Amino acid sequence: MTLRLHANEHPQGPPAGVADALHALIPELHRYPAASSALETAIAELYDVPLNRVLVGAGSAEIISLAWRAFTGPDRAAFFHEPEFEFYPMLAAQCGTPALTRPWPLDGDLATHLADASVGLVALSNPHNPTGSARPRREIADLAGRLPDTTVVLNDEAYHDYADVDDGELSLGALSDLPNVLTTRTFSKIHGLAGLRIGYGIGNACLIGALRSLQTPFSVSTAACTAALAALADPSVPAERRAHNRRQRDSLADALTARGFEVSPSQANFLYVRPPHGRSTWAADLLDRGVRVQPVGADLRVTVGSATDVAALITAVDDLLSAVQTNNLGES
Ligand SMILES: Cc1ncc(COP(=O)(O)O)c(C=O)c1O
Repeated sequence: MTLRLHANEHPQGPPAGVADALHALIPELHRYPAASSALETAIAELYDVPLNRVLVGAGSAEIISLAWRAFTGPDRAAFFHEPEFEFYPMLAAQCGTPALTRPWPLDGDLATHLADASVGLVALSNPHNPTGSARPRREIADLAGRLPDTTVVLNDEAYHDYADVDDGELSLGALSDLPNVLTTRTFSKIHGLAGLRIGYGIGNACLIGALRSLQTPFSVSTAACTAALAALADPSVPAERRAHNRRQRDSLADALTARGFEVSPSQANFLYVRPPHGRSTWAADLLDRGVRVQPVGADLRVTVGSATDVAALITAVDDLLSAVQTNNLGES
């Protein structure tokens, strides 16, 4: 079986408690979902924000997609970096939205780059997919304050649960006081629920109201809401999983660095690496050895995974490196 290190999935499934909660639901599955308000209430309490600042969706992807439909269009551009989460250019194509892109890392000040453009949405994955670097929320707030209120900053925190957060970090509540910041978060990563599709947005009531009015009724299943509520029941899980990911990330980074890879510092559950020997076929060659990673140009994005996953990846890398040396397979 191919090892999946291309999709930034968490290597463990959902926390204990989710299976029982889902099982108990089976007799009620012929009913349409009740409003997602129980989960929205739990999230509002978790972040200490009013209920009208929370919207639950079928994955954070649904909330992001609603934001593109609400805030961009043929005459309202979207800004994002290159490279970025693959979904952003896809949404630009779907919505007929002109894409204003700049390379990552940005040379200069983002607000200045956006000064003369009619931009509806500034989409920033934070930590950034694929490099794993994180921006403090204060920078997001500062950027939003320097843009017109009609330009919405999407602070996409799909990987925030893996990041080391400073004590002085701005709260999500403080960010949601601003008129033009939408933060999205997900249960797909550290909570291990990617297959159920459940995520949420937090922002000012006007922004959330605009998204809610575009949402398809019943897009979020009862099973997804129930599982997410059960996952939230044990608040110790994210901290334990964050620490475990940090250890595996460090050990993978060390192993790859020792083998000649350039490794970018990461605050997420993946590493962005530049392989040695200038070969452009690393992703295909690793796939031949049973490990799927995500190519980003000639670079690679590699999910951290479990200790076993890390060991299997390193075995495949060593096999490939020895084939390169034996056969003198330099650049390709
Ligand atoms: C940056 C980023 N945002 C959002 C998502 C979407 O997550 P989901 O729709 O599963 O919540 C992903 C998925 O990999 C991602 O990488």
